[in-house]
Amino acid sequence: MTTVAPKPVFDKGLANTIASESAMSWIDGQAGVLEYVGIDIDSLARNSTFEETVFLLWRGKLPTTAELDAFSASIQDQYELPEPMWDLIRSIPVEAGPMHATRTLVSALALYDPEADDPSTEANERKGIRLLARTPALIANFDRHRNGRDIIKPDPSQNIATSFLTMLNGTPPTDTMSRALDVCLILHADHGFNASTFAGLVTISTLSDMYSAVTSAIGTLKGPLHGGANEAVIHMLDKIGGIDKVEKYIRDKLSRKERVMGFGHRVYKAYDPRATYLKTFAKQLADDTGNQQLYEISNRIEQIMHEAVAAKGILPNVDFYSATTYYSIGLAIDLFTPIFVMSRIAGWVGHCMEQLADNKLIRPRCEYVGPHEMAYVAIEDRQ
Ligand code: SDX
Repeated sequence: MTTVAPKPVFDKGLANTIASESAMSWIDGQAGVLEYVGIDIDSLARNSTFEETVFLLWRGKLPTTAELDAFSASIQDQYELPEPMWDLIRSIPVEAGPMHATRTLVSALALYDPEADDPSTEANERKGIRLLARTPALIANFDRHRNGRDIIKPDPSQNIATSFLTMLNGTPPTDTMSRALDVCLILHADHGFNASTFAGLVTISTLSDMYSAVTSAIGTLKGPLHGGANEAVIHMLDKIGGIDKVEKYIRDKLSRKERVMGFGHRVYKAYDPRATYLKTFAKQLADDTGNQQLYEISNRIEQIMHEAVAAKGILPNVDFYSATTYYSIGLAIDLFTPIFVMSRIAGWVGHCMEQLADNKLIRPRCEYVGPHEMAYVAIEDRQ
């Protein structure tokens, strides 16, 4: 008996489509809740570390002390780049955009990984560890290269946040700055089937490899509607230039039906809980680093947007206050999205592992709206 396939449903942007199941992060868009494996994001930001959060996402539980020590050591043991990667970093044009450099360099890691095409779960987790461990050195040393500075190799005694900032700046960060970045890495680690994660899932669902899946995800995160928004927020704050210019700038933008970067979300119709945490963080860091005006302009934008569009559920998202936070840490604006990559590798790899555990090729349908029964016309007879 032939089974009749259900009639396909048209859902542009897949806004109302559940594509699969996951046990990693829970988002309640109406209530503004984000949990990683059931633990509220605010508790994790206050109490956890990025390495502990990755363990939680990948293994489904908080680690014991011994487990965390072993997991952290497994990452730090993999910091060192394959030797040819240093020459590749030096060969990247200094004017290249950091997201193009990041996507290219992360993809190149596969060339020096003998397990690149090993599909086993064990090899995929080892590749996930290598991606997590090596991407910070790629980003930090591309930035050093483009600024004419010598490379600095990662220090295996430091955690990811500290080693990244040490390589980037040439000196170890303060505990405050190291912790600030560590918290940002926690907040950005995973977020359901966001566009970049879904891009990675589409890739891995063909039984392609983890490096290809993460490369797909990086290319997707780059867009200003997604991970690229944090850089766009700072450029907007800089363009506004002063607290007295905020209202006119925002209202003019809205009247032109333009989007205000850092606001709105496909799922959250309440305040993005990551923005809640980052707002407090941004104020503390702005005060500590003399960037109060950035925070004040941000706060004023939020007030104007609240009056104008909060009723439509357009509220600050993770990118709005992460921008001021990263700027206050002293990070170059065009490194904001590469730092998002450093963190979201945790989510991308975790979701790819889940997909492979119960894989089905991801291949949606399309509504064909073109012509039918057209004749082939010889080229000499065409107008
Ligand atoms: C991230 O998905 C995730 O989880 C992503 C992320 C993660 O952790 O992975 O949370 C990270 O990508 C956060 C989002 C960062 N992007 C931005 O800040 C860019 C600005 N935001 C938007 O472009 C927009 O809000 C989206 C793309 C994020 C979501 O848009 P949707 O769900 O596709 O909704 P839409 O574009 O159809 O907008 C609905 C209405 C429209 O107005 P109308 O045509 O109905 O009158 O809301 C308006 C939009 O114009 N609108 C905005 C707006 N966002 C939506 N108006 C002004 N400013 C905005 N930012």
